[in-house]
Amino acid sequence: MSSYNISGKYYNDLTSLVKGEELTWLEIELVKKILEPPSTLLDIGAGTGRHLIPLFQIGYKVYGIEESNLMLSFFESGKIPFDQLFLVSFWDFNKRGNFNSSFDLITLFWNTLNELAFTKRDLRKFLIKCIKLLKPNGKILINSDNPNNFDYKHLKYNASSVKDGKTITLFSSVKRFNPFRNLTVTEELIEVKDNNGKIIDKIYSNLKQRWWFKDEITQLAEDMGFRIKGHSIPLNNEMYLELCL
Ligand SMILES: C[S@@+](CC[C@H](N)C(=O)[O-])C[C@H]1O[C@@H](n2cnc3c(N)ncnc32)[C@H](O)[C@@H]1O
Repeated sequence: MSSYNISGKYYNDLTSLVKGEELTWLEIELVKKILEPPSTLLDIGAGTGRHLIPLFQIGYKVYGIEESNLMLSFFESGKIPFDQLFLVSFWDFNKRGNFNSSFDLITLFWNTLNELAFTKRDLRKFLIKCIKLLKPNGKILINSDNPNNFDYKHLKYNASSVKDGKTITLFSSVKRFNPFRNLTVTEELIEVKDNNGKIIDKIYSNLKQRWWFKDEITQLAEDMGFRIKGHSIPLNNEMYLELCL
């Protein structure tokens, strides 16, 4: 089961702490710089629609796939046409080939790639599947944390947000690191207190991630015929890689 079917309950409250509106708008500007509306986009791991809803509103034809039904349930209903959102794992999407050669751009924001491709074989399979989905000059935009910039093997932090008098706190801590596969398993505890300090909700989940380095993605993608462009966004030092066919 997707860990977001548990932790997703407080996703929007906690996300706004690290991925505020300003950053999301800079990411939308980056998409616009790569391709103007009304291009056709597919957002993999669309989450709660952080990018898809504004991209739809500025005139893109958008499609989203998301494997967690809890995350999808946060999409404000009707904002994106019903038949353009899919509750499915990326690996099971387009099994009948209905979406072959359909998209100008495929996007994956905030470490979605780390959650769906755990090995180089997965990454190759991912790119092969994207090539099928993309139009002849299509592109992929991958946004992930840059593992060179922080100690992802031992990451531990707390973050709190206050909403309607409730304090929502995330305690996040890497519990396991596999150096051969560059994989981490992070234990997440979300604790919610009312305005008297009484705990009213407590949620545990585990998140598995494979930390991809820019050079690994670049090398494999170039071998498969992509040209790579790096982008940056002033508010953070994450990776924004554009892979062009
Ligand atoms: C860190 S969240 C990012 C959500 C959103 N893109 C954002 O930037 O706010 C990663 C999302 O990818 C989804 N995801 C992970 N693996 C997936 C897969 N194989 N297929 C579809 N969605 C997946 C998760 O359920 C989660 O909603």
